[in-house]
Amino acid sequence: MTHENHALFTIFGATGDLAKRKLYPSLFRLHRKKMIHSHFAVIGTARSDWSNDRFRKVVAESLQDLNPTEQELNEFVEHFYYQPLNVTNTEEYISLQQLADELDQKYQLNGNRIFYLAMAPQFFGIISKHIQSENIISKDGFNRLIIEKPFGVDHESATQLNNEISAVFSEEQIFRIDHYLGKEMIQNIAAVRFGNNIFESLWNYKYIDNIQITLAESLGVEERGGYYDQSGALKDMVQNHILQIVALLAMEPPTVFSDEAIRTEKINALKAVRIFDTKEVNENFVRGQYGTGLTNKKGVPAYRSENGVKPDSVTETFVAGKFLIDNFRWTGVPFYVRTGKNMAEKGTRINIVFKSTPINIFRSVDEPICNTKKLPENILTIYIQPTEGFSLTLNGKKIGNGFDIDPTKLMFRQSVENLENTPEAYEKLLSDCLKGDATNFTHWSEVEQSWKIVDVIRHVWDQTPIDFPNYSSGSMGPQSAFDLLEKDGRQWVWCPFKK
Ligand code: BG6
Repeated sequence: MTHENHALFTIFGATGDLAKRKLYPSLFRLHRKKMIHSHFAVIGTARSDWSNDRFRKVVAESLQDLNPTEQELNEFVEHFYYQPLNVTNTEEYISLQQLADELDQKYQLNGNRIFYLAMAPQFFGIISKHIQSENIISKDGFNRLIIEKPFGVDHESATQLNNEISAVFSEEQIFRIDHYLGKEMIQNIAAVRFGNNIFESLWNYKYIDNIQITLAESLGVEERGGYYDQSGALKDMVQNHILQIVALLAMEPPTVFSDEAIRTEKINALKAVRIFDTKEVNENFVRGQYGTGLTNKKGVPAYRSENGVKPDSVTETFVAGKFLIDNFRWTGVPFYVRTGKNMAEKGTRINIVFKSTPINIFRSVDEPICNTKKLPENILTIYIQPTEGFSLTLNGKKIGNGFDIDPTKLMFRQSVENLENTPEAYEKLLSDCLKGDATNFTHWSEVEQSWKIVDVIRHVWDQTPIDFPNYSSGSMGPQSAFDLLEKDGRQWVWCPFKK
């Protein structure tokens, strides 16, 4: 028996920000729900020479927002062990192997091991190699590897990285995190589509005019200027989160709801996303970089003045674009996407804009003889964050004389109580990994295809000079992002205010 919730978690990068902000609180929530209980242990590794006590103290501090009782805290942190490790030093892995075996015995973990690499990707290869060569992989239970983005910086480097980890772990053992896939409302895309015939039967080029995906952030790059300046919004958000959302919206219905079936359909959808040539990149994608301005009512500096950012940086902090999907279902339907830092508001949402009725038969008070105005489109909106829910805009008659049509919004927002109980994205992903369910992790073929789509855009932009900054902090991005839709005779559905 595998006893799927018996496991040893080895966290590489245990002193880092991700571990403290996300992993320890998520493990604690799982512990509180008894999804992991007596039979689990965590080994934290990093270069610093910490003791178990110091490690446990740091873990405990990371849980303060969850208001643990003293008993809960003690019961949880006593499962945490620290092992200093320089990942390039083979000898140091021997102690890690001994500790792993010891804890396996002590907590009866059945040889189930999860290796979490919360570290820079250049170390993924060397760590995987040592996990194997130093026998840290167990012979009995399961061995699973969780890795964080960025998975490479382009198709070539991602392939090389994948080759390195695949030399040790099979695809079924590799869990590539895209934390967006752990979000409740992203998982709800499948429920909305495949659980409601009124939508799925209209989910194609005949009835959908366009789809809009916005991942707007109201914060700047904060302390991550050094990383971000090398990356930019295209690689930081589009290659992973946005293309994953595109895949979920565009995929064909899977025959069963299994990780294999879903990922196969997502891969097929991504393969149908058109890889643009230079002319198409210039027509369909625009970029921006924030200047000074006001966000959350506070004055903020321009991107070029942020810590870790070059004063003449041409890294984009905003991307808007149009993907086209060349298949039977989606031909001619633009998938507009945009994401940026220091925008007017934090908001992640998807708007599905349906085609208007073929003609407007209603006479309005303004145009009593002949009505030239198209009826407003029906729009299904999926709110991902900060609020969660759906809305559907329908046309109804305006109260009063005549027959004016007024769009009405049917709205469902999660209650505060539900929101409070919503599991953290990382909590869900960790629990999925324990169950061996890879549905909400990205398969190598998805990563590979996403890089192919994004690489051509990057390449064209790298060859083309650009005048930055071109949008004010606190706005919804540069003018070019609005022009992109206007030239198609459309507009962004979500405008927190008119620019
Ligand atoms: C990360 C990016 O993947 O996603 C960050 O590296 C970004 O730059 C973050 O801020 C956004 O995630 P969320 O969950 O806050 O929307």
